[in-house]
Amino acid sequence: MTFDTALQHLEHVPHIPPDRGKLLYEFIRKQQPRHILELGFAHGTSACYMAAALEENGEGRITTIDSVVAKGREPDIHTLLERTGLGAFVDPVFAERSYTWELMKLLERHTHEGRTEAQFDFVFIDGGHTWDSDGFSFLLADRLLRPGGWVLFDDVLWTPAESAGEDWVEAMPAEERDTAHVEKIFNLLVVPHPSYDSFEFDGTWAWARKTPDAVTAAADRSDVVSAIYEQTSAARRSFLVRRYLKKLFRIGG
Ligand SMILES: C[S@@+](CC[C@H](N)C(=O)[O-])C[C@H]1O[C@@H](n2cnc3c(N)ncnc32)[C@H](O)[C@@H]1O
Repeated sequence: MTFDTALQHLEHVPHIPPDRGKLLYEFIRKQQPRHILELGFAHGTSACYMAAALEENGEGRITTIDSVVAKGREPDIHTLLERTGLGAFVDPVFAERSYTWELMKLLERHTHEGRTEAQFDFVFIDGGHTWDSDGFSFLLADRLLRPGGWVLFDDVLWTPAESAGEDWVEAMPAEERDTAHVEKIFNLLVVPHPSYDSFEFDGTWAWARKTPDAVTAAADRSDVVSAIYEQTSAARRSFLVRRYLKKLFRIGG
């Protein structure tokens, strides 16, 4: 789908504005990622711009995660995918609480015998914009990002103080409220990371590339993994027996 056709459907839907939608679209056309992970889809607007570019590329798929709250958006992502006809390119995931937990499940699904198989060529992080959720999310997503793949952060200079009045913001110490969390994530977790290069910042978005020679999988760990599994299984069995006996004697006494 051309950018202009996508724009006709998406121009008036929050959150990503058309000029950023175009940047994202062109990035996908240029880099040709096949598997994309997006954290934070809201109405699905950025997911649709990316999906339109994937359709134009001829292939690709987006896993995009938001919270169940996004089901109540007007329009919601399913409606937007139906309107644009781009549903075949997008798998929306609604997290009960946070995408960090869904990332655990993705890691679990793609980790076998102590080796994680990286899945994604591009990760777009546009969710909570806080140190706790998105700093951790970057570290998790990094495990799933292929060498040569890209990570993009939105709203690098945004501070929680801009959402003053919201309960979660008011509960923060002033120092955290007035800090641009994504800037800290980019400057402290991404830039010093030995497996990233090609850093770019345009005032709002920050990109980094995972180096093509980054080492992502450990050497064969199958023997260590089965030994650890046996130890934890044995420890869990003895814990359950002790708990059962404790309960039994408490009832008996
Ligand atoms: C700025 S909006 C995303 C906008 C979207 N990428 C776009 O450009 O159209 C941020 C979204 O992140 C979601 N979000 C924030 N923190 C989250 C978390 N920890 N887990 C899941 N979703 C989260 C919010 O529900 C919200 O819909």
